[in-house]
Amino acid sequence: GGDGTVTPELPAFEQRLVVPRRLTGPLVTIPMRQARVRMLPTGPRTRMWTYGGSYPGPTIVRPAGRETRVRFIHQLPRKVGALTVHLHGDHHAAEHDGQPTTQLVRPGRSRVYEYPLTYGGLPEPSSFFFYHDHRMDHTARNNWRGLQGMFVVKDPSESSLQLPTGRRDVPLMLADRSFRSDNELTNPFAHGPTMVGHHGSMAWTGPHAPPDDATVGTHVLVNGRYAPYLPVSATRYRLRLLNASHFSSYSIGLSDGRPLLQIGTGNGLLRKPVVRDRVLLGPAQRADVIVDFHGATGRDLVLDSVPNAAGATGDDARQAALMQFRVGAEAPDRSRLPARLPSPDLVDVPKTVSKTWTFGLGETHGHHAGSFWSVNGRAFDPERVDHRARLGTVERWRLRNVSDVTHYVHIHAEQWRTVLRDGKPPPPWEQGLEDTWRLEPGEVVEVAARFEDYTGSFMIHCHMLDHEDHGMMARFDVVR
Ligand code: C2O
Ligand code: CU
Repeated sequence: GGDGTVTPELPAFEQRLVVPRRLTGPLVTIPMRQARVRMLPTGPRTRMWTYGGSYPGPTIVRPAGRETRVRFIHQLPRKVGALTVHLHGDHHAAEHDGQPTTQLVRPGRSRVYEYPLTYGGLPEPSSFFFYHDHRMDHTARNNWRGLQGMFVVKDPSESSLQLPTGRRDVPLMLADRSFRSDNELTNPFAHGPTMVGHHGSMAWTGPHAPPDDATVGTHVLVNGRYAPYLPVSATRYRLRLLNASHFSSYSIGLSDGRPLLQIGTGNGLLRKPVVRDRVLLGPAQRADVIVDFHGATGRDLVLDSVPNAAGATGDDARQAALMQFRVGAEAPDRSRLPARLPSPDLVDVPKTVSKTWTFGLGETHGHHAGSFWSVNGRAFDPERVDHRARLGTVERWRLRNVSDVTHYVHIHAEQWRTVLRDGKPPPPWEQGLEDTWRLEPGEVVEVAARFEDYTGSFMIHCHMLDHEDHGMMARFDVVR
């Protein structure tokens, strides 16, 4: 327009959204294998490393409290090396956590991961998790190539809420990728960073080294397809939003300003729906929202992402048209939007905290050249235990960003309550259970959880996948 702003051209929305097939049952088998996947609307399909032949992999849907075993069979080429699968957000034993250097699935072999889907002996709350590769040094590469899929835990009592279900309950995974002219993925990791220095003072240098290791794709995909469309009726829909990107964050909303009613995080429902114009999601963050398409019959609405509001600190969300909803006729709609939701209990912090611990995310410079991402000044070492927490106690952790860029920190094992964000009570949409937080430069988020059920070692790390591969991860152990 005349004010000098550039309105980016909308994509053509030429291909229909694909909802990944659903798998359920006490034992689910997923081969990890190469497959050609339709990602771009024209030209050849793209060769991917997949879970079960699709990208995203199949969505595993299971009732809360029902033990679920997932057998992953490694049928990818030997050169891929060993893999490890992490069910992000879920509460399970350390032996089944799919950590960077243990519980490996070697080429030609398989491994069964066990998920009881219980928490403190009770069924887990209804939640929206995702499973993805977590291999030491190669997480960014392996996720880029396609090893990502969604997992829904259904609380059977949720049916009494009458939220939209069936075809009106749509999981949407956002992830950005870049393509060569033959439609194959680019390989941003081909000339990865070089390690310099000696033990104790090592760092990375080179083109893809910290702080320039931000993998951003030119195309934002929804469920693996670029700019898809979905025909919808003029009724309510439940959208489960997941940002599975390596680095990009999205400030998600609808082009006509219609609000998103957020009913949950990835880890359970909120106490009541929160009206949101935009939902900001960084890597690994999820949101459970209701959209009401009443009154939009005949219109095409775009789900898009805009840069953060002026004045916001930290890195910008990216600008992108994500997908299109083609709104058809009104249809019978028995769904409701309850004013109150049965949200999971949160730990009672002031009375029960037994330990406080600070966790500083930073960038550390090597003694000679290069730098690495760090936790409390040190790069990840799977042999080093940075913190010990006692089973059955509540701890309050201060997550502090001491670098000058935004990070998204994720904690394995437990589901956490956000106590304070920068000294203040968190906004309503952050008052449920969480496992991944945005941290602006200089920001401190205080979180609390009770260590339940499992001892063993777990990870805390930045979920910007290159940061995680380049040192910004630490191990903590839960002990008796
Ligand atoms: Cu989603 Cu430690 O990962
Ligand atoms: Cu980071």
